[in-house]
Amino acid sequence: MIELEELRKEFRTNAGAVQALDGITLRVPASTIHGIVGPSGAGKSTLIRCLTLLERPTAGAVRIGGEDLAALPERQLRSQRRRIGMVFQHVNLFDSRTAVANVAYPLRVSGVPKAAAHARAEELLQLVGLDGRGGSYPAQLSGGQQQRVGIARALASQPSVLLCDEPSSALDWATTRQVLEVVKKVNLTLGLTVLIITHEMAVVRQVCDSVSLLSRGRIVQSGPIGEVVTAYGSPLARELIPLAATPVGQARAQLEVSFSSVDFSTRQVLRLLADLSEDTAIEAGTIETLAGLRVGRFQLVVNADGREGVVKQLRQAGLFVAEPEEAP
Ligand SMILES: Nc1ncnc2c1ncn2[C@@H]1O[C@H](COP(=O)(O)OP(=O)(O)OP(=O)(O)O)[C@@H](O)[C@H]1O
Ligand SMILES: [Mg+2]
Repeated sequence: MIELEELRKEFRTNAGAVQALDGITLRVPASTIHGIVGPSGAGKSTLIRCLTLLERPTAGAVRIGGEDLAALPERQLRSQRRRIGMVFQHVNLFDSRTAVANVAYPLRVSGVPKAAAHARAEELLQLVGLDGRGGSYPAQLSGGQQQRVGIARALASQPSVLLCDEPSSALDWATTRQVLEVVKKVNLTLGLTVLIITHEMAVVRQVCDSVSLLSRGRIVQSGPIGEVVTAYGSPLARELIPLAATPVGQARAQLEVSFSSVDFSTRQVLRLLADLSEDTAIEAGTIETLAGLRVGRFQLVVNADGREGVVKQLRQAGLFVAEPEEAP
């Protein structure tokens, strides 16, 4: 389990103090995958650096498996860090070493004899779907395969927690999918608690059990996927159920309707929309299945006279309706 309590990080610069993390409290249950999303500069990388204590937090607690790492002196910290595996955007493998030697490296450094380290490395390569590729050098592996070697290396010291900082942002869609499948597999087979920092909502949709939105050093929304997608109109619900982008110059739709199978079947919603007056146009819409729920969003255009009536009709039926000025 990962627990952050009132975590703060202040950077002092010539231009003054920057509150990179401004009181982060977060609990990631053991053996689950949590995503952290947020715009550039939100504090995502600072958060991951504070989690590994590569950066000392200004205040607050970082508990991994109950132990507060922020309170430990440097020497004890070094052994505790082994319980945390790290995967970065750029894998940084040793070019002159084979995949198996790269994975074995952290074990060799901590004194494991070569034969045992290599045997363990072979097992880990098999776990990440690279059996038989142990003898390849990084240059002989694709980007996705290199990333999987990086995951195997992160697992070598048998961590209980895996931290991933933008693990897929240098990869294409299909390769990202493979890497995420490996992350999910190690989460399930080894019971690892995983924290993924990403700017891609697609990553959250594919593997995360829960998600937090970070903005200016604070968590502005957080929860299990099923909970955030049914917080209709909330920033994460809108990002997790995206509508196609409106062409530049084209006005946005006037009304937005959201629903989930908690309250409505898709069929019921389509009937309610079909019953609206003739001059109500359905401009865009999406329906999908996330966290075992069917969730949907529609954008409607109504002429000014009819608008109030349409909003009333939909709300009386129990649908969530946002008007642009209400939409965040
Ligand atoms: N070493 C540092 N010294 C001073 N300010 C810093 C330092 N590191 C980060 N910051 C500031 O802290 C804030 C958060 O930065 P951080 O790198 O954590 O953002 P991020 O969410 O990872 O962004 P990105 O998505 O662009 O990687 C920014 O305002 C940044 O300028
Ligand atoms: Mg960053």
